[in-house]
Amino acid sequence: MLANSLPQRRDVTEGRTEPTGKKTCPQSHWNTHKTDTVVSTVTAPPYMNGTNGLNGTHGVVATNGLNGTNGVNGTTNGVNGTSNGSGESWEKQFLPPPLQLDDKARAIKVESRLSGLVLCGATLKRVAEVFAHEIENGLRQKPSSLQMENTYVPELPDGTEEGVFLALDLGGTNFRVLYLELCGGELVREDVKHYHISDELRLGPGEDLFNFLADCVLDFLRSEGMEKDELSLGFTFSFPMKQHSISSGELITWTKSFKCGGMAGVDVAALLQRCLNDRGLKVTVQVLLNDTTGTLVAGAHLDPEVAIGVILGTGSNGCYMERADRVVHWESSYERVHDVCVDIEWGAFGDNGCLNFLRTDFDEEVDRNSLLATSFTFEKYIGGKYLGDLLCAVLGGLARDGLFPATPVWGELQSAHVSMFEEENSVGDWEQTAEALCEACGGALISRADAFVAQHVARVISNRAAQLVSVCIATLLRRMNRNHTAVAVDGSVFKRHPRIRNLMNKYIALLAPKDKFTLLGAEDGSGKGSALTAAIAARVAARST
Ligand code: GLC
Repeated sequence: MLANSLPQRRDVTEGRTEPTGKKTCPQSHWNTHKTDTVVSTVTAPPYMNGTNGLNGTHGVVATNGLNGTNGVNGTTNGVNGTSNGSGESWEKQFLPPPLQLDDKARAIKVESRLSGLVLCGATLKRVAEVFAHEIENGLRQKPSSLQMENTYVPELPDGTEEGVFLALDLGGTNFRVLYLELCGGELVREDVKHYHISDELRLGPGEDLFNFLADCVLDFLRSEGMEKDELSLGFTFSFPMKQHSISSGELITWTKSFKCGGMAGVDVAALLQRCLNDRGLKVTVQVLLNDTTGTLVAGAHLDPEVAIGVILGTGSNGCYMERADRVVHWESSYERVHDVCVDIEWGAFGDNGCLNFLRTDFDEEVDRNSLLATSFTFEKYIGGKYLGDLLCAVLGGLARDGLFPATPVWGELQSAHVSMFEEENSVGDWEQTAEALCEACGGALISRADAFVAQHVARVISNRAAQLVSVCIATLLRRMNRNHTAVAVDGSVFKRHPRIRNLMNKYIALLAPKDKFTLLGAEDGSGKGSALTAAIAARVAARST
């Protein structure tokens, strides 16, 4: 039945809808992203060359260098109010380029209104220190906004992974069922089918959602003629969980666009298993994992130096290999486990108030209008689900101050607009930006200068997102202290935003100048990574019996 020489791939879409809105924005241009070719030279920060100077300064954040300062209390390097040659250039490298308009007074006013979104190096250093502290607390099960969840994944691929697996990928509005065959660690067959998850299912009772998932598995297996087969399944459930083992865990809270009722304290793997059993399927849920874990595992298959997995997509999160003895939450013996993958759930970073110094009125507005207000606030600074709303909130704020001609209709701008504005900006164009803004603002007239203002906003919020995700990665690199670490990254923002990768390379290097790293695009952690993780679990189980 199965071919095992050449990789085969079938991709069937069922009831799939495109996430972009109904308006006819100029999409033709959008998918051809260019990347920055210039990677800045970086200078060591003051704290890496003996001048520490962190004083917790924050909040009085930069105007963006228009007048030659970086805006932290008007000082030139922003750290303790002192000036320092290398410190100054280090600080300046965090600033977005100034807004250039013929109307200089307007440019200054716009920049001043955006100043809370412009983070200087000292502020980012402070975020890094808070993050490191929250990591420690989370690992020790002390109060922390970081879950630091033990995933029970104790090792990474070694090229011996074999077998056939089903993988389920739940996290966005499309649910995927995959059939994967691994041979000597390589993927030799992959069949995939997408199913659309309606609003009713995303927001209704959890039982209904899980019954739907099992119906999809049944449909998929029938279409493959495999409904009688005994199969192992890897369930990629991209939400925060408290895991009890590699194959069980409870949902902590829904995130992104899901909010199903009746799931408190429910083991999601056990619920899925029951729904599969009810349909007479001989499918066993062998591993339960997060998409970041899948990305790390899929990345480690490509490059053995991968030890961090990051998702920069609708939501944002990271995981990394931690020393098993530093993790307090173990519900099984870990005597023979040296390292274990820890799911940080950094989307919730700061939900306990420790990052309130970053919050702007624009962020408050995005949060208030979100499905799950006051939760996963850090994710709302970075995730693709929120960047469009942030753009909308900022342009609305500028409109209220008479600095932009109209307020965009809420929900009409998406992260794809942020990418498109950035892309046009990089080549000095503005027409498509203006056209999209005109649609989003109900037909308002948008001038060339207005389009440049919106592009500047896109630049500022992209820059902040890149900086914040870079702070997390840089802090992990410093904590892990390896000779070289590869970071596996996946997600729509990472793949489609024209500047984000280069910005991350630059900011990580600025924040962790002694730690060598590579960002590695890792595709399909939720599919391939899930199958590899199931194979690893089988290998580990066989070894211990
Ligand atoms: C959200 C989820 C997290 C997931 C991330 C990326 O933050 O809570 O589990 O990894 O989105 O999909």
